Amino acid sequence: MLSTRFTELVGCDVPLQQAPMGLISPPGLALAVARAGGVGSVSAGLGVEPQALAAQLDSWMEPGAGALAVNFITEQVDPAAVAVAGARARIVEFFWITPHAKLVDAAHEGGALVNWQVGSLPEAVLAVEAGADVVTVQGREAGGHVRGDTPLLPLLAAVLRAVDVPVLAAGGIAEPRAMAAVLAAGAAGARIGTRFIATSESGAHPEYELALLAAGPESTEITDGFAECPMCATLPRARVLRSAIAAVDAVDGETVGTVGDEPVPPRAGMSPHKDVQGQIHAMALYAGSGVEHVTAVRPAAEVVRELAEGAEALLRAW
Ligand SMILES: Cc1cc2nc3c(=O)[nH]c(=O)nc-3n(C[C@H](O)[C@H](O)[C@H](O)COP(=O)(O)O)c2cc1C
Repeated sequence: MLSTRFTELVGCDVPLQQAPMGLISPPGLALAVARAGGVGSVSAGLGVEPQALAAQLDSWMEPGAGALAVNFITEQVDPAAVAVAGARARIVEFFWITPHAKLVDAAHEGGALVNWQVGSLPEAVLAVEAGADVVTVQGREAGGHVRGDTPLLPLLAAVLRAVDVPVLAAGGIAEPRAMAAVLAAGAAGARIGTRFIATSESGAHPEYELALLAAGPESTEITDGFAECPMCATLPRARVLRSAIAAVDAVDGETVGTVGDEPVPPRAGMSPHKDVQGQIHAMALYAGSGVEHVTAVRPAAEVVRELAEGAEALLRAW
């Protein structure tokens, strides 16, 4: 097993975190990854009340399930909700928020570690100054909302020179060779989103998964084309399948689908989960630049094993 500063700090077996992805990463996915030795992550709902979050987490979190993380995005975060997550999860996570000691302290109060995903060197330094125990650097290759504009490896090198906490690498990592590369470059682990969309436990709509499987190299692009979302209110930038940009540009109408009775407007930032109906191919099909390595829908535990064992074998061979 690959042991790093991250696995030692967190107490997990594999230096890999499955990224939180809203309704695409339901508890079943997080639990499967955690049981396989990685860190499994879920998203706290936007603006969730502390009591509601406590009830949600208590309904599925199991003692002994492994390392779990709860993620908060956007500036409207209630520190009391962060404390609720900190009392239940091994890691509390932040992204798309200016690093702030008040939020770190709230998570630490409950006993959790704090991981802050950043898109630049100054933001990494701010996160560590605010008290983060781990920093994730997100390169511009990443699927979903993209915080900065620097490619992953130069950003990783710059941040490793500047901070002394374990650093995870995120963006475009979807196969063992890329995972081995970031570990060889000094990362303490990899944070991976896109590869976990195509898993048996993911919450993604089947047509979204099929679109990922069909995507070849150079098939993603950073766009402001799906900017009807709270994250895009501050910075409209997300990496999606290029086919979705063309498809939404061709939509002529007020909706592209529905969730229950609610219409989904064109250019909504919501990625299509299982309860969405309509023109899935014209919705926000977030995907990182490693999508060509996503070639089959597999159980999450197999994906964790393949990445970890493959990366370890490569590192030993090198
Ligand atoms: C569908 C999707 C949804 C995402 N949602 C979130 C989120 O809610 N919070 C977050 O911190 N990161 C989110 N991300 C970004 C990930 O944290 C991570 O940076 C990214 O997945 C890494 O790149 P990769 O997808 O190429 O592995 C999302 C990514 C994807 C693909």
